[in-house]
Amino acid sequence: FSKNMLQATLIQPGGEVIAAEGDSLTLNCTFETSSTTFPTLFWYKQEVNSYPKYMLKRYLTTKENAPEIKKDRFDAELKDKSVPLKIQKLHVSYSAVYYCALQPTVTGNSKTLYKNLQI
Ligand SMILES: *[C@@H]1O[C@H](CO)[C@@H](O)[C@H](O)[C@H]1NC(C)=O
Repeated sequence: FSKNMLQATLIQPGGEVIAAEGDSLTLNCTFETSSTTFPTLFWYKQEVNSYPKYMLKRYLTTKENAPEIKKDRFDAELKDKSVPLKIQKLHVSYSAVYYCALQPTVTGNSKTLYKNLQI
């Protein structure tokens, strides 16, 4: 192995989260990297029968959301070595698998979010 090999680890607790419409929840993602440059963190959303779509990225104090990702519903705060995704006012359309990723190529485990609407 090269001494200069970059190592990075993402810890994203796997499994399913069941929540009700209108709830708020936080999907956690923590990271470790051997890089001396601070990484860029990403969140992706994969809906059923689709491919992962970019939602947002965070770098130091810079925040960027994809145009269709409403900031008042989806926000991630990069703090220390974590980038938890806060989802507010859950809607049925938010049911998906959510991934966090670190630039360049490390992804954590997925988190499946199901809406659980009970009337
Ligand atoms: C994320 O972490 C917070 C704080 O530890 C915890 O309250 C919350 O339940 C976690 N989210 C999930 C989806 O496990």
